[in-house]
Amino acid sequence: MEFMKIYIRNAYAGSFFNRKILLCDFHITINKNDTIILAGPSGIGKSTFLSIIRGDSNFDGTISCNGSPQIRFVSQPLTIDTGETVEDAIQFAVLSNLSDSPHSADPFRVSRKVDKWLKSFDLLDKKKMKISQLSGGQKRRVMLCERFVEQQDQYDLLLCDEPDTGLDIKSQQSLHELMVRNARDNRKTLITVTHNLYPSNLCFYSKIILLGYGKRGIPTVRYFGPISDIKRSFGTTDFLQIFDKLMTVPA
Ligand SMILES: Nc1ncnc2c1ncn2[C@@H]1O[C@H](COP(=O)(O)OP(=O)(O)O)[C@@H](O)[C@H]1O
Ligand SMILES: [Mg+2]
Repeated sequence: MEFMKIYIRNAYAGSFFNRKILLCDFHITINKNDTIILAGPSGIGKSTFLSIIRGDSNFDGTISCNGSPQIRFVSQPLTIDTGETVEDAIQFAVLSNLSDSPHSADPFRVSRKVDKWLKSFDLLDKKKMKISQLSGGQKRRVMLCERFVEQQDQYDLLLCDEPDTGLDIKSQQSLHELMVRNARDNRKTLITVTHNLYPSNLCFYSKIILLGYGKRGIPTVRYFGPISDIKRSFGTTDFLQIFDKLMTVPA
């Protein structure tokens, strides 16, 4: 089912007289429950792409949606209070989700929900630890878990900007697996920006968007589709070669 149709003629920054075109000339349709990787060279416009979808960037074009989707954004820097325990952080998020007031919530039910979420982000054994004592990967999982849980019924689209920065390849894999599984289980559409284009990360996602230079020498969407069809488009699955092509203005 179609979720969001995006047509961008020009997306730009700056004032009218000092305008810089950041992305141009693309048309894509995102379906409900798509789980999408967004990739491309540094500075090509990945974060800009997310800000267009969030409505924080100026553009000529149209974005049309089925209804008015709520969007949640997980920014690149870690934003989490590291003084509290993992349990406290997730409990707070779970409580924010309940229709009854936190004081009248059934503690047993809340604790079961907290455990369910901690388990789904592989954090159950870290429950009593202070967030400041966790590794980078674990902190990131707590932050993502928190974003997934908070007002869970109130968003349809989750945008994550480089959530795997600074993690080893194994922790990246488990982070992506958990994110995609949680998005699927909760029927969210997910777009994740990453530079870590390993098969072990990509395999969980349904599609990929690749940004690169377009015919006017301005960044655009050079590929959008299933990861398995990349070879047909670029003649290779080697991202070093694909990035060379993305950096080259097409003839
Ligand atoms: N507000 C702005 N004013 C001028 N240029 C900007 C602004 N925001 C982003 N840019 C430029 O847009 C380009 C894309 O940036 P960004 O979307 O952050 O790239 P990425 O996330 O792919 O690394 C960069 O060249 C950046 O300098
Ligand atoms: Mg960026």
